[in-house]
Amino acid sequence: MSTSVLFVCLGNICRSPTAHGVFQELVKAADLQDRIQVDSAGTGAWHVGEAPDQRATAAARARGYDLSSLRARVVSVADFSNFDYVLAMDQQNLGNLQAMAPADYRGHLGLFLDFHSHPLLREVPDPYCGGNAGFDQVLDLVEEASRGLLKAITG
Ligand code: 4NP
Repeated sequence: MSTSVLFVCLGNICRSPTAHGVFQELVKAADLQDRIQVDSAGTGAWHVGEAPDQRATAAARARGYDLSSLRARVVSVADFSNFDYVLAMDQQNLGNLQAMAPADYRGHLGLFLDFHSHPLLREVPDPYCGGNAGFDQVLDLVEEASRGLLKAITG
């Protein structure tokens, strides 16, 4: 059986491409690339076609993740036909996704950090307007939640 995962943030240049790259690497390390498809998208269109933010790319590279081939795109209604998991980085993204999701969507639409081991962590903070430390915080949250997500998918 195959499972597909879509990570969604606002711009698709900081948080969701980080989750895309980190989770993809975890999937690869588990030799599950044939079983688990990974993608990311944004609810906003400002950065469509752009590579991830240089600060996100640099922070990820320092931990061994390559985000350089990713390009920003906007989430669409069709994504709900194509993805089993649609995971939002914060409540605002989730609200926008819930508003556009077909009523008969049978996949998992929720917050990515629901897969984090710490139950009180809900949102991946938007690092766009902050300093470099914000990008390391994103990586910390994303790495832990990615392990939880892989466990949830593989059982
Ligand atoms: P992201 O960060 O949602 O994690 O990709 C942002 C990137 C760009 C903007 C906001 C957040 N922006 O307003 O352009």
